[in-house]
Amino acid sequence: MSEILIRAFQHPPEAEDESALEAIPASEIETLSDEDLQLSLFLCYGLQYCLFGETAQHWEWETSLIGLRKRLEVRFARELRETAGQLPVVDVEKLPEFLMDLGKPSPGRSLSRYLKQDATMEQFQEFLMHRSVYSLMEADHHSLVIPRVRGGGKPALVEIQADEYGGGIPGRLHSQLFELTLNELGMLTEFGSYFEDVPACSLTTVNVISYFGTYGRHRGAMLGNLAMTEIGSHYVNRNFRNGLQRLNGSDDSWLFFQEHIVADAVHEQLAAYDMCGRFVRDNPREVSDMVFGAVVTAELGARANEHMLSSWERGESSLRGAASVAAG
Ligand SMILES: [Fe+2]
Ligand SMILES: [Fe+2]
Repeated sequence: MSEILIRAFQHPPEAEDESALEAIPASEIETLSDEDLQLSLFLCYGLQYCLFGETAQHWEWETSLIGLRKRLEVRFARELRETAGQLPVVDVEKLPEFLMDLGKPSPGRSLSRYLKQDATMEQFQEFLMHRSVYSLMEADHHSLVIPRVRGGGKPALVEIQADEYGGGIPGRLHSQLFELTLNELGMLTEFGSYFEDVPACSLTTVNVISYFGTYGRHRGAMLGNLAMTEIGSHYVNRNFRNGLQRLNGSDDSWLFFQEHIVADAVHEQLAAYDMCGRFVRDNPREVSDMVFGAVVTAELGARANEHMLSSWERGESSLRGAASVAAG
């Protein structure tokens, strides 16, 4: 499926391609591998962010492509519900504390502590490849929800996003700081350099944001997702920074993580109390959507982290196939 899309994006839509996409039955989507499902969704959503060049953009609102994406989303949505499992019932007034508790660092196995203490530079670079599918365009996915939120919660949402975009200072966008990290470590910095190398579990963590951002009815889930991105982030970023310092990374290589130690200590409070807390007070019927978004995000993140940790413990790469760190 992903191969069909990659081929199609090489030229503007033609009747032949359109009918090829329309002819793909739901039963075929049911049997796609996770890798193919997630890569196909990643390609469909990528058009929203102009990721694949001018020619591919002609496909953005092409009805056969939208139809295919919706058929993929039926399966994706069902899998997200299964992943979230039975959701707790959370009182509107207790929502911020619930989120803070869900996102707090836990003892035991931890990707960030492994990267801090034990990872080789090659493993750290693999981790950056996984992160690149999100962080090279950090904040852009979540910006999709801004026009969908009104009233309580919007000022905090916009404040968080403004910081993510560097507060108006050129070169300080978090995506640019991440690019600097990749560059300092001799890795490729162009968006898309690694998306075919990372497994489904990492693409899923980004696809879920695009999915929530595509539909207004998922705005609560999107805010729950953003909250989980912010809560506890300063703790893991301190570990990431310390790991790079241990591995003798240059000062510029860990600036991205340093920035998050400072910014996300503030963002987690803003996200839990001022953004999510105020939003659900004004929209109490959406509290369960927010809980869903937060729970599924936490679980998907944990699965991706566990995949990296267990691959490395087996002495294997966490990347797809034979991919290895492609030094630029
Ligand atoms: Fe950030
Ligand atoms: Fe942040």
